[in-house]
Amino acid sequence: MKILVTGGLGFIGSHTVVELQNEGFEVIIIDNLSNSSIEVLDGITAITGVSPHFEKIDLKVKDDVIAFFQKHNDIEGVIHFAASKAVGESVQEPLMYYENNITTLVYLLQELTKLAQPNFIFSSSCTVYGQADELPITENAPVKPAESPYGNTKQIGEEIIRDTCKVNQNLNSIALRYFNPIGAHPSAEIGELPIGVPQNLVPYITQTAIGIREQLSVFGGDYDTPDGTCIRDYIHVVDLAKAHVVALQRLIEGKNSGNYEVFNLGTGKGSSVLEAIQSFDRVTGKTLKYQIVGRREGDITAAYADTKKANDVLGWKTELTLDDAMASAWKWEQKIRNK
Ligand SMILES: NC(=O)c1ccc[n+]([C@@H]2O[C@H](COP(=O)([O-])OP(=O)(O)OC[C@H]3O[C@@H](n4cnc5c(N)ncnc54)[C@H](O)[C@@H]3O)[C@@H](O)[C@H]2O)c1
Repeated sequence: MKILVTGGLGFIGSHTVVELQNEGFEVIIIDNLSNSSIEVLDGITAITGVSPHFEKIDLKVKDDVIAFFQKHNDIEGVIHFAASKAVGESVQEPLMYYENNITTLVYLLQELTKLAQPNFIFSSSCTVYGQADELPITENAPVKPAESPYGNTKQIGEEIIRDTCKVNQNLNSIALRYFNPIGAHPSAEIGELPIGVPQNLVPYITQTAIGIREQLSVFGGDYDTPDGTCIRDYIHVVDLAKAHVVALQRLIEGKNSGNYEVFNLGTGKGSSVLEAIQSFDRVTGKTLKYQIVGRREGDITAAYADTKKANDVLGWKTELTLDDAMASAWKWEQKIRNK
């Protein structure tokens, strides 16, 4: 079965391509390399023994999207990762974010809805919940006004898909709301490749430990949490990738209830920033240099998933721990620095 993975050379996309190929799917990757490297293809091939078909296409170019689907009219599913994802940058460049994250989705759906029985998986985010009133966060928690243009693109993206599904009964879609993906493939052949100063905690930790950054700034030590630092639900990227295969199989086998579904993808366990640092120290034997500084604007106190729906309905649950994720991220950091 031919599956299109957009953004398939990126962090989550590349791990998902590996899991799809492990399950025997034929994968075609579209990526414009705006936030990834062509060498990721070698990493995927090294792990799976199969080199996925790759097309360098910018999904903002409508004619190229149309031409792609004319050439590949036997695609049975699309997993759409391609998007810009830096929250801070989205505040500075809102139109760039709306263009890249919204037009690409619209162009894809326009072509997909021409197919006989299209299956579509969308990368959404727990940012749609903002600071939820109740923890853990279920899929029924209200969507709160977005804190950034990036967050807004995920909310608008979900609405676009829901509206499209209402009038296209043959289109089957699942929006997956990720909590905090971290870690790397245990082989260290693929992982997260942040360009410039990392926006996320774990690459910042590993870059600090390897000496690229002087120390980690922990934003806020006075939150209403047991140790005063923010709490997040860190999910190993390999577990996250496997969830995409399960979601796709659900659609292909027609097991979905309704043609638009939403699932949280997290571990269900919240860990504070200090607990994440302790985990890193534990698995690496290092003592990470960090300093608690003032709060960062826009950060919420705590978010972790209620995983019941993903566990019971999707039939998926996480298998890897925070320590597993930290160990793999550290192995990956050492590998890329040695290169
Ligand atoms: N990483 C996270 O913490 C996180 C959390 C929640 C949701 N998400 C979402 O998951 C998806 C994947 O995230 P990621 O962390 O793997 O990001 P990433 O930047 O590593 O991967 C995205 C890929 O899409 C490509 N891309 C971007 N715009 C494109 C375009 N116009 N045409 C073709 N390719 C394009 C990039 O080159 C990159 O390879 C994104 O939609 C992101 O918003 C990520």
